[in-house]
Amino acid sequence: MWRPPERIEHPPRPGRWPDAQEAAASLLFQPVALGPLALAQRTWVPAMVPWRASPEGFVTPRVLAWYERLARGRPGAIVVEATGIRDVPSGPLLRIGHDRFVPGLAELAATVRRASEGQTRLLIQVIDFLAIRRRPTPEKFFLSHLAVTDRHRQALGARDWPEEAVRRRLLEMPAAEAEAVLDERERETLRMGYRERVTDMHLPHVRDLPRVLPGLFAEAARRAREAGFDGVELHYAHAYTMASFLSARNDRPDGYGGPPGNRVRLPLEVHARVRERVGRDFAVGCRFLAEECIPGGGTVEDAAWFAARFAEAGMDFLSTSRGGRFEDAAQPKPGAAAYPYTGPSGYECMPQFISDARGPYGRNLDPTARIRAGLRGAGHTTPVIVAGGIHGFEQAESILRRGEADLVALARQALADPDWFLKVRLGRGDTVRVCAYTNYCEGLDQMHKAVTCRLWDRQALDEPGAMLTEDGRRRLVAPAWTP
Ligand SMILES: Cc1cc2nc3c(=O)[nH]c(=O)nc-3n(C[C@H](O)[C@H](O)[C@H](O)COP(=O)(O)O)c2cc1C
Ligand code: SF4
Repeated sequence: MWRPPERIEHPPRPGRWPDAQEAAASLLFQPVALGPLALAQRTWVPAMVPWRASPEGFVTPRVLAWYERLARGRPGAIVVEATGIRDVPSGPLLRIGHDRFVPGLAELAATVRRASEGQTRLLIQVIDFLAIRRRPTPEKFFLSHLAVTDRHRQALGARDWPEEAVRRRLLEMPAAEAEAVLDERERETLRMGYRERVTDMHLPHVRDLPRVLPGLFAEAARRAREAGFDGVELHYAHAYTMASFLSARNDRPDGYGGPPGNRVRLPLEVHARVRERVGRDFAVGCRFLAEECIPGGGTVEDAAWFAARFAEAGMDFLSTSRGGRFEDAAQPKPGAAAYPYTGPSGYECMPQFISDARGPYGRNLDPTARIRAGLRGAGHTTPVIVAGGIHGFEQAESILRRGEADLVALARQALADPDWFLKVRLGRGDTVRVCAYTNYCEGLDQMHKAVTCRLWDRQALDEPGAMLTEDGRRRLVAPAWTP
């Protein structure tokens, strides 16, 4: 993973913990409404993919155990990991693209309700993404993937050569010379692996996205409602389809790209169709980027403008993230796929403790505060949720007191200690296992391996009933804590 060149170490500083009385009086532990949804406290576990679904995308006992463990800490809300809305094989990513997924998801919703004793609300993040392929070896690329055209023949001065001879010649040439024969997209495919973009208008299924996606998202939301979830979070962030429509780099010529009004059109159409399908008494909001954090990418001004449109449209909450784009991802090894959290924008999304002078904690606070101020200035009361390096009570409380956000989201800190919420509320903050922000968990995510935390995954492996990874070397959920 990319890290700022300054390499300044910022160990986490959770600060002072409150006693139970101070916690009870804090804003953090006051109720809040997200449209129709009442949360008991202003804490939120944002979506995190833990890679525990079955290869077909079903809820497994491991998925249930993961969310049950999170629910025991009783945060205000948990957002279930990014879940695919299409009925297509997606590896071990959780899916909601067909009614056959509903029973498993219903069990998940019931599990969280039971484990939190009804204290935690459950939402699910619904996602669409485009195709991405592994980086090919030069042999694979030149001998089979490349579509040989007259442009290549011309560049090689080999007008009459059969295709096979062109392929062989390109493979045998010095790499720099062969790359010079390729166009920009072909070069990218060779270096990074093939990746579809929302601007690939020559691909019929990409051209059709505005026609197809509203219905797919609406059906996914309907299933979430049937399964007993309290709401859906439309995934409009990071490297995926909807964020790429919002992106300042989206120049689709069909009215869905170019100026911000065009780029926000599909996200609004998706929301409208979802709302029509699930009604007003089911929470619908989105996660989107406060800043894209790539050259030529969307700024906080764009995000503030989008937020106002989302609020006008009647979204029940807005959750901000930042970065996590493919455009600046590191080159994968041959045989591996590019991962959108490996470049500078990936660092902004999940900053680790080795950082620059600003440090990894609260990098999204200023932009989120600006987005929220814009909303409030325009008379919108839509709650705003912020994430990024939040691990201390004083830090969380001051974000709320300063009005930078209405709820605080803890991702890695909840992974490190799912009981953070309960411990802080009971005045037992001194027992919190503070996240070290080393990104060991994120490294596992990148390899699509079961995500665990280094602070607990080797502890008490012989505990009766402890669920372990296949190799028996890591436990899959944090050890139990009893107040
Ligand atoms: C293992 C892992 C998986 C994640 N998966 C998702 C995801 O499915 N959807 C999403 O919007 N963000 C995802 N994120 C990003 C987090 O929700 C969060 O925005 C980010 O980690 C920064 O918050 P933190 O500093 O509290 O960890 C993931 C993060 C981690 C560490
Ligand atoms: S592995 Fe644990 S301590 Fe390290 S960053 Fe992830 S959650 Fe935090």
